[in-house]
Amino acid sequence: MDINSVYETIENVKSDIQSVSTKDDLEEFRLKYLVRRGIIQQMFEGIKSASPEERPQLGKALNELRQTAQTLFDEKKRELEQSRTLTADKLDLTIPGRRRPIGTKHPVTQALDDMTTIFKSMGFAVALGPEIEDDFHNFEALNFPADHPARDMQDTFFLDETALLRTHTSPVQVRIMMNQKPPIRHIMPGRVYRNEAISARSYCMFHQLEGLAVDENITFAELKGTLATFAKKFFGSGVKYVFRPSFFPFTEPSAEMDISCFLCNGKGCRVCKQTGWLEILGCGMVDPNVLKAVGYDPEKVTGYAFGMGVDRTALLLYGIDDIRMLYENDVRLLNQFS
Ligand code: PHE
Repeated sequence: MDINSVYETIENVKSDIQSVSTKDDLEEFRLKYLVRRGIIQQMFEGIKSASPEERPQLGKALNELRQTAQTLFDEKKRELEQSRTLTADKLDLTIPGRRRPIGTKHPVTQALDDMTTIFKSMGFAVALGPEIEDDFHNFEALNFPADHPARDMQDTFFLDETALLRTHTSPVQVRIMMNQKPPIRHIMPGRVYRNEAISARSYCMFHQLEGLAVDENITFAELKGTLATFAKKFFGSGVKYVFRPSFFPFTEPSAEMDISCFLCNGKGCRVCKQTGWLEILGCGMVDPNVLKAVGYDPEKVTGYAFGMGVDRTALLLYGIDDIRMLYENDVRLLNQFS
């Protein structure tokens, strides 16, 4: 080995690094020159066989060779790493944007919205009330005297002596009447709570849409006309309906409204329990005792009220057979309502 072959190797190193363009090329370069069994180390071994006069020069040249190879290797390595991050950061502006997933309206919200739209078109305003109520608004002002058995109709979640989770939206009637003078024509949608055993048909929380109209000369005929108009708009013009006498402490007379089962068209099916009818709401003329409790004069004004269940109607409309599914928020169900 002579000094010229060392300088030749330096030239080789320089030209080899030129053709390195990938990590693999670089590794090949390293294995060729920089490892213990690589060319350079082997040349260092060759010093031993050189004459003593040649050794210092040879050693110097070999050090230069090693230095050059290492420096070029390091530079190339840095360059390759940098170009990798550059490719990763590169933006392709022609790629179509990613669509954000859009949520869907919950079936109960959808049913409530549709109901609300219909009543608004008939001149009703929307009012809301608190879900945590007191005994006065939920019961007493609505003509449920203390210890009256009618309170058993609604299994109540009590929070303490007087605070409770409202069992119906009717307390909002009381709040509206105590805050404003007739004429009143409002609907009151919202959540209500009852301490009931949870099953496919009942849940501890559900939704109601309450209605209230108070003015001079409001009649039961107007109540029936309003609800019949609603039913036709909501369930379809072919729907049949019937009012059955019923009882609520806060209305007199009271009724429940059934509509012909829209699943079997009144023929009788599993859903309507072969009766052909579905109960959708309770209603009646506001009891004079309620009008008195809120400071109205029952000799001057009359009113009607109704309260309809929203969840069961939504279940029937959308063909869902278990009320619990409404509150599990399984996206596989919710996605079907987009
Ligand atoms: N609040 C009654 C219920 O929860 C429904 C109702 C409302 C009845 C208004 C008559 C008038 O069952």
